[in-house]
Amino acid sequence: MSHQSAIERYQTLTPGSQQLFEAARTIVSGGVSRGTLAFAPYPFYAAEAGGATVTDVDGNEYLDLVNNFTSLPHGHGHRPTSKAFNQELTASSAIGTAHPLEAEYARDLSVRYPSLERLHFTTTGSEAAAFALRVARANTGRDRVLKFEGGFHGCHNELYQDINVLPALAPGAAIPSRPASAGLEPTSTITAVYNDPAAVAEAFGLWGGEIAAVIVEPFLGNGSLVTARREFLEAIFEQAHRAGALVVFDEIQSLRAGYSGAAGEWGYRPDLMAIGKIMGGGFALAAFGGRADLFEVFHRGPDPVLQTGTFTAAPPVLAAGRAAMAALSPSVFEDVSGRAGRLRDGLRREARDRGVAVHVNGVGSMFNVAFTDEPVDSYRAHRAADAGMLDEVRLHMVNHGIVIMPRGTGCLSTPVTDDDVERVVEAFGLAISHVREG
Ligand SMILES: Cc1ncc(COP(=O)(O)O)c(C=O)c1O
Repeated sequence: MSHQSAIERYQTLTPGSQQLFEAARTIVSGGVSRGTLAFAPYPFYAAEAGGATVTDVDGNEYLDLVNNFTSLPHGHGHRPTSKAFNQELTASSAIGTAHPLEAEYARDLSVRYPSLERLHFTTTGSEAAAFALRVARANTGRDRVLKFEGGFHGCHNELYQDINVLPALAPGAAIPSRPASAGLEPTSTITAVYNDPAAVAEAFGLWGGEIAAVIVEPFLGNGSLVTARREFLEAIFEQAHRAGALVVFDEIQSLRAGYSGAAGEWGYRPDLMAIGKIMGGGFALAAFGGRADLFEVFHRGPDPVLQTGTFTAAPPVLAAGRAAMAALSPSVFEDVSGRAGRLRDGLRREARDRGVAVHVNGVGSMFNVAFTDEPVDSYRAHRAADAGMLDEVRLHMVNHGIVIMPRGTGCLSTPVTDDDVERVVEAFGLAISHVREG
């Protein structure tokens, strides 16, 4: 079965979605505001959702392994989360004065993620990453930020750099960042090769005295979940601290690595951290935090840093995030991560049995499939994987009622069962067979 016939099958199953998409395109350019949702030939339109399942407007049911791009720890309609949200909503959607829930939830997060001695809430992860850098600049009096190729930290100017840009950098390289889209303002950001201690040394060799902070994802959430090697993270801490720069972990996605996030699980204490996604329990909530002394810049000196935002730390959203995270105990985390581990093994087995080269990355509740016979441990290896094969396999899986992200990544929510895992593995095997027969 060719890719064309998978597309035709999808179109036959989803005529209502196609119609809605065509109509939407006449008012929302590209059909959807959020570009990451616009996969070919068009996204299906949701009618309802519950637990791990989404049903589209044509009545097709899907096992949802996208979970709003990793932000739903409990899938859809988690009772304790909705209840907490609704209880606060009866008072107000947002109140223009302080609310006790803010410090209560901040305290919970600080216990769970010990690097967060102080923290501030934001509405989105993009804001959290941007404010973490502002704190770093205000503390160091320096401008430049070092990021890594393929690292995604949100859509704002200084960090929307070198995400999908080609050609990939040569090993050991560090360069002034290349914008990932048109329309960005010029920045002083620097990009180095991910997972490459020599590239970290190169960046500090060239710009050491100018770098305020290094921002790094413990795994490349947008890049096949390439996971940071210990020697790479150690080089970052060592070089940054020697040069007087701060280390920022972007844990917006990697809170899924384990109960206390990647830093906590792997034994690191970054100076600053940005968190988001699951900590909002499915709602628009994120935060940045870190060493207590670094937060003095908010209330000291002639030019204190100002954080503001009309909907920042809205009480219903804080209540929802807090309830969702309270339900993610260490044993629940272990259960979901164990299931994800079995899923990763199953995907590898299906591909191997069919003689197809696949590399499955993932930690905690996450997984990623990349069709390649090389280990996917760098941005370069991620880009070298067979994207066409992934598109085809993914669409066949959608036609079988399983959704993962177009980039080959998926994650488990707490309602996913062992039977669901079996179903995914089986659909993956069938999808590979379809593609090979085509
Ligand atoms: C690692 C990482 N950082 C930052 C962001 C931006 O977060 P948001 O979409 O909430 O602005 C994302 C979102 O996907 C992310 O995965």
